[in-house]
Amino acid sequence: MAIFPDAWLSELLSKSDLAAIASEYTLLKPKGKRLWGCCPFHSEKTPSFSVVPDEQFYYCFGCHAGGSVVQFVMDAEKLTYVEAIKYLAQRAGMELPDDVDDDRLRQERALKERLYAACKDAAMFYHAKLLSEEGKEAQKYLMGRNIDAATAAKFGLGYAPPGWDNLLKYMTEKGYSNEHLLAAGLIIQGKGRDKYYDAYRDRVMFPIVSTAKRVLGFGARTMGNDTPKYLNTGDTPIFNKRNNLYGLNLQRGKHLADIIIVEGYMDVISLYKAGVTNAVASLGTALTQQQARLIKRYVPKVYISYDGDSAGQNATLRGLDILAKEGLDVRVIVIPDNMDPDDYAKKFGGQEYLALKDKALTLNGFKLDSLMGGIDLGTPDGREEYAKKACALLARLEPVEQERYAPVIARRTGLSKEAILRQCGISGSPAGNSIGNSRNTKQQNRERLKSLNKAETALLCCMIKSGEALLCAMEEMARYGISFSDSAINAFAEGLLARSVTGEKLDIPLALSMLPQEAAESVSAAIGNEDTVIDPVTTAKDCVAAIAREAMDERIKELAAAMQTGGSDEEKREYMELVKKRASLK
Ligand code: UTP
Ligand code: MN
Repeated sequence: MAIFPDAWLSELLSKSDLAAIASEYTLLKPKGKRLWGCCPFHSEKTPSFSVVPDEQFYYCFGCHAGGSVVQFVMDAEKLTYVEAIKYLAQRAGMELPDDVDDDRLRQERALKERLYAACKDAAMFYHAKLLSEEGKEAQKYLMGRNIDAATAAKFGLGYAPPGWDNLLKYMTEKGYSNEHLLAAGLIIQGKGRDKYYDAYRDRVMFPIVSTAKRVLGFGARTMGNDTPKYLNTGDTPIFNKRNNLYGLNLQRGKHLADIIIVEGYMDVISLYKAGVTNAVASLGTALTQQQARLIKRYVPKVYISYDGDSAGQNATLRGLDILAKEGLDVRVIVIPDNMDPDDYAKKFGGQEYLALKDKALTLNGFKLDSLMGGIDLGTPDGREEYAKKACALLARLEPVEQERYAPVIARRTGLSKEAILRQCGISGSPAGNSIGNSRNTKQQNRERLKSLNKAETALLCCMIKSGEALLCAMEEMARYGISFSDSAINAFAEGLLARSVTGEKLDIPLALSMLPQEAAESVSAAIGNEDTVIDPVTTAKDCVAAIAREAMDERIKELAAAMQTGGSDEEKREYMELVKKRASLK
């Protein structure tokens, strides 16, 4: 992400005092080598947010936000990396460097700028077409879907006219090359070498806008029964659907309590029209980790509001886990009768939709409900099947939640609450040893996960602290064929190594400022723990071994599962070898 020259960035960072900037958001008081205050990124009453002025980084021991002044500004002001740098430059009274010395980077940036401009011009072209005589049918279509002119304007909706080259001609006249239009996904290449035509024809256009308010691409809906129903911009140098959410641009600068995730463009728009303005759509893909992280930058709580059909419900189950894994508080809005949020808001209005939102299920409440799918609770067999499945889930929950859901399962199955709890191995006495196993497994799993992250953080900490530990750890990691779970951290470690080979010391604040948010948090956490490591070399070796064991266990489990359903010779060989290797690591 080295968009700005190192020297310029270094100067900017030296002029941007994190402590001073953070003080604008929270009251900081010195204690030890840190300044402490209440965290600006989560609500708390006792200070767990800290700034280390000497090293120019911050870390919150409560919500684990952390990084350099750049990440701080990104997070506090909801800015992208480049915007944050610009913001800091303005504060520091520094001119932006207009000639970046790296040719390739400059070209890349110029290309992106050109594609942004092309998408914006295309969006304006489509919008004008919608408002014109040619757009009459599309206007009628939108009206039929309850979208008025103001809402269409708010979302910049448009219309791509029929015909092969309306946009192409217009954009060519404006000076765009075919190459750029192709790269932006606005035109496609036909069979002949010089045959190009418009990518979207006779469709209603939904521009996809970034949080930095740039048009990145489009969704294009047919007004008839053409397939696919929606055409979407594929991956381009400026757009990747996995990293974006439709409608998120409208959430910036708002003080939101939560965000609603829906499946489609029309759900976002329809809810907006009905007064529910905090919905975003996952752009037709299964929700990704990147999207979950994006949301986490805005709110701590999300509602999933997918279609009521079974595909929607399955997507909900997958989405739940991804969101929960990022530490978001997740709820599920259940819409009756296979309707989607668009249908529901259109039929009953925003208030009724919000009433559904008030009744949203918790993550586990939703899971317990979905376990009823395909089971006939009217029969004893069905009730028993459900009881078993539900108890397997219940056994893995926290006691408070078990207390809450045991009566629900009891009611559904006609069993007593005691029977339910016994089935889960929670028979009142904490010893509950027989079936209590499944509970322990979950507990162990959780701890194992945590210890892996801990091992990685501790390893990183050793690597930062000692050059010898760094070398030793990198060697061992290569030997085991393992790496950090975050690729940015791997790159960071390689950066450390490169410097240590030439005898330089890594400029930590500079390196931090170039890392993605998550990675910066991990590194900050690692630096935060530096004092606790006494023997970095030994600790690093232990950590690498722990991570390697973990990776092997995972792979062994996968292979074992594969072999249950046959499995190739290759898999069998790998399995045998791994089991042997794993045993030697005990
Ligand atoms: P749906 O099929 O549920 O469509 O797909 P929808 O949002 O209800 O659309 P309308 O109401 O019929 O206009 C949900 C989302 O999946 C993506 C789109 O993002 C859509 O909004 N999708 C769907 C595609 O990308 N391509 C398709 O062909 C269909
Ligand atoms: Mn729909």
